[in-house]
Amino acid sequence: MPVVVTTGDEEGGEDMGEQREHWGSRLGFVMAAVGSAVGLGNMWRFSYLAAESGGAAFVVLYIGMTALVALPIMLAEFTLGRGARQSPVLALAHYGGPAWKPLGWLFVAAGFLILAYYSVIAGWTVRYALLGLRDGFAGDASARFAAISTGLTAIVFHAAFMAVTVSVVAGGVRSGIERTNLVLMPMLFVILIGLAIYASQLDGAALGYAYYLRPRFDELASFSVLSQAAGQAFFSLSLGMGAMLTYASYLDRHEHLPNASLQIAGADFLVAFIAGLAVFPLIFAHGLETAVGESTVGALFITLPTAFEKMGLAGRLVGTLFFAALVVGALTSAIALLEQVVATAMDVFKWPRRSSAIGLGVIIFLMGVPAALDLDVLGKMDQLAGNVFLVIGSLALAIFVGWRMQDPIGEVAIGAPGVRWFFLWRSLLRFVAPPVLIVVLYYSFRALVSGDG
Ligand code: PHE
Repeated sequence: MPVVVTTGDEEGGEDMGEQREHWGSRLGFVMAAVGSAVGLGNMWRFSYLAAESGGAAFVVLYIGMTALVALPIMLAEFTLGRGARQSPVLALAHYGGPAWKPLGWLFVAAGFLILAYYSVIAGWTVRYALLGLRDGFAGDASARFAAISTGLTAIVFHAAFMAVTVSVVAGGVRSGIERTNLVLMPMLFVILIGLAIYASQLDGAALGYAYYLRPRFDELASFSVLSQAAGQAFFSLSLGMGAMLTYASYLDRHEHLPNASLQIAGADFLVAFIAGLAVFPLIFAHGLETAVGESTVGALFITLPTAFEKMGLAGRLVGTLFFAALVVGALTSAIALLEQVVATAMDVFKWPRRSSAIGLGVIIFLMGVPAALDLDVLGKMDQLAGNVFLVIGSLALAIFVGWRMQDPIGEVAIGAPGVRWFFLWRSLLRFVAPPVLIVVLYYSFRALVSGDG
């Protein structure tokens, strides 16, 4: 008979079951999951990809990808996490036996890798927000980006951002993660909607919208656009590395998982879409469209600040708010990334939460240093993580829940009485997701090897 002795000041690390931490409310869970999803990926990259290929046609493709492939995988992660009440490694072992543990470790590796460079970029956003607040965006935007994005400044802000992330995760599921998301996510929505409304009043708004959304269905007839849309959906929804699984492991059995998935994916899409409505008018109001084409990062950190500069005082305010929204999105995503890794250490090795958060946070910080010294390294880490790890992870999850797990429908249906389409869900996992993901993986590998994309 195991006797669990707790000192009362440690929230986790006990055996599975009764002692596991728990969300305080349904809204808390949904907000935290939305916080994990909404981040640097969709606040900027989504609209950029749309503008680059297909416009509104890309948006349609993206929604299709989300509905047919990404949403089923999100629901699969939720089902595993809530059912096993364990972080990825043990959840996979719970339903599939020890042979599936390595997949869980792959997820953990992805967590380390993504957070390491993600925190470096997040550090830039912090630096830019402070810049807007204190000095404004005047000066040579390219030179400034070069100074901020690499070297000591980048390392210092990366460290500061990691420290904040660690302190939230160390605070635990309810008083750290849930509380932070409940405060920050509404803030982000308000800022973003405000920015989009402001942008709609600008002279270049119509041109900006046209650049972003003019539908070009012919541009979709390419596997590489298809795989970009899919890759974007997985990255944006934080899928394929067990972050959503981990958040679901703090849920009650009676949570309605299909509704939660729909709400989370819907909110994530809306944020991405609205961010584009804010960004492109700003750029077009100042005739900067020629500067957009160069690179995603350049457009975000060079072109936009140039637009803010041209807008004078209003630009300073708008720019500061814009980067503050990015900081918020990045922080709530980083929290989810770190939590997956920390939860694994707590569940597998029984380490206490605080020491796990601090120790693993330091390791991740160190892994990010090369990315803070060299943009090429950062770009490679991004490609490897987003396009390869998450896609392999999603593929494996689809196969696991579709083919290996016993009675996933019985599990997912708990808390969702009356939902009749679970057989469709499993069919999508079995027959649709795997081939799509294999195509995506092929194109991702090609892009990685050829050095573009
Ligand atoms: N979804 C986050 C974004 O869009 C990134 C992320 C990926 C977060 C994987 C957690 C896990 O920026």
